[in-house]
Amino acid sequence: MKTRILFVCLGNICRSPSAEAVFKGLVKNKGVDDKFYIDSAGTYGYHEGEPADRRMQSHAIRRGYNLTSISRPFIPERDWDDFDYIIGMDNSNMRNLADMARSKDDLKKLYKMTDFANNYGHTEVPDPYYGGDPGFELVLDLLEDASEGLFEKLNYEK
Ligand code: 4NP
Repeated sequence: MKTRILFVCLGNICRSPSAEAVFKGLVKNKGVDDKFYIDSAGTYGYHEGEPADRRMQSHAIRRGYNLTSISRPFIPERDWDDFDYIIGMDNSNMRNLADMARSKDDLKKLYKMTDFANNYGHTEVPDPYYGGDPGFELVLDLLEDASEGLFEKLNYEK
């Protein structure tokens, strides 16, 4: 049985497509990509059908991450059932996701990405959309760190 992980941000064009690519890269490096099903979504459907933000793509590709996912909205009726872990990027995503939960069991699947961080004290992956280059680099730094922590947690729970 694959472990199914859905990364969620607001627009699904910056942070969660990057989280998807970083975590996919990590499990591929570890040689266990066949054990995972990984996807991403946004709480807000405005960018549905669009590829990742160009600025995010250009920062990601420099670290070897090709952002190929296409933005799609979070669909409560389907996604709470189809995934084992639903992972938000910031406190606003977490509130939006909690509001869309249908039950206590749904809420048990909800985590925040920074909860898995080992090396950074940030409690959110900040929205880089209206900022500059450092914001996109910080997103990638936080995602790489938290992805390692998430992988360790999943291994531990196995
Ligand atoms: P994301 O970034 O949630 O990391 O994909 C954003 C993308 C779009 C907008 C805000 C944040 N927006 O306001 O359109």
